[in-house]
Amino acid sequence: MIMEERSFRKNVAFIGTGLMGKPMALNILRHGFPLTVYNRSRKKASELVEQGARLAETPFDAARTADVIITMVSNIEAVSSLLSGEHGMMGALGKEKIYINMSTITPESSREFARSVEETGARMLEAPVIGTTTVAEKGELTILAGGDPRILDEVREILQPMGKFIFHVGDFGSACGMKLVVNHFIAGMIALLAEGLELSDKLGIDRSVFSNVVNTSAVKSPVYEIRAPKMMTGDYAPQFPLKLMIKDLNYITQTAEKIGVTMPVHSLVRNLYSLTANYGHNEEDFAVIYELLKHESKRENP
Ligand SMILES: NC(=O)c1ccc[n+]([C@@H]2O[C@H](COP(=O)([O-])OP(=O)(O)OC[C@H]3O[C@@H](n4cnc5c(N)ncnc54)[C@H](OP(=O)(O)O)[C@@H]3O)[C@@H](O)[C@H]2O)c1
Repeated sequence: MIMEERSFRKNVAFIGTGLMGKPMALNILRHGFPLTVYNRSRKKASELVEQGARLAETPFDAARTADVIITMVSNIEAVSSLLSGEHGMMGALGKEKIYINMSTITPESSREFARSVEETGARMLEAPVIGTTTVAEKGELTILAGGDPRILDEVREILQPMGKFIFHVGDFGSACGMKLVVNHFIAGMIALLAEGLELSDKLGIDRSVFSNVVNTSAVKSPVYEIRAPKMMTGDYAPQFPLKLMIKDLNYITQTAEKIGVTMPVHSLVRNLYSLTANYGHNEEDFAVIYELLKHESKRENP
């Protein structure tokens, strides 16, 4: 009986099984959807294959057998290459197929991808996510959907294993825009946390007191709960690599310039992250910004 129900389930292809994509795809698989996976470097898809997913040879191959195709990759260039590069998905798209991009990209590029995808007869939804790897593992991401709400209704059963909250934000571009707004907050919050921790240390305040006060006061946030321990232990194993935060900060700049919004605080914050990258911390978690602040503080106050 269960097998019968499963055979009516949509075939899903998940492309991009990196830090976020792997736990997201695992949750889809665990909910019984027939899953095909593709990752540019095959090794990162191996755990999913061991759990029962089919490994596609190319993005085209992944999209060919799927009703719903999901991408979760680094940036605009990666999405573009998967769609239109060699053996790209575009050749396999057509009527009856739904393409969902969950990567963080700009509203403008998302609208452009949607136009190209729709020319094939397929439909597209943008669905960037809020939450990091540990949240993805628990299937508790916040999913922001943009595009036709009827498409969201059709794919909700596939998004649900990955997300605790699913919001329909509005038309195409709006969900990508909302995602950038949230990352604007997060980048600033972590910059303030780094400065606050350094100030607190220099005031001689015990770190456990710092944590208890921050985590019970008006500034309490899961963003702080996840990143403060990284700063305190110096363990910057990436959950959200610095290079991807810088990518998002650049997308915020581009988007704000395009629609005419002045963001002086954002500019300061972006420079701080870029400077940290210049010290070679690109692959580490973006909380590593704390090391730059400590370094600068020491340099200026020897
Ligand atoms: N990490 C987080 O906390 C977090 C939270 C919310 C949203 N996001 C967003 O989620 C997306 C994925 O992030 P992640 O943390 O999973 O990053 P990641 O671990 O670095 O994974 C990036 C993925 O993109 C693929 N990729 C990169 N360039 C490509 C190209 N030109 N062609 C094909 N594939 C390409 C990589 O393939 P290879 O393995 O072959 O390099 C990998 O599968 C990003 O848009 C990020 O901004 C991340």
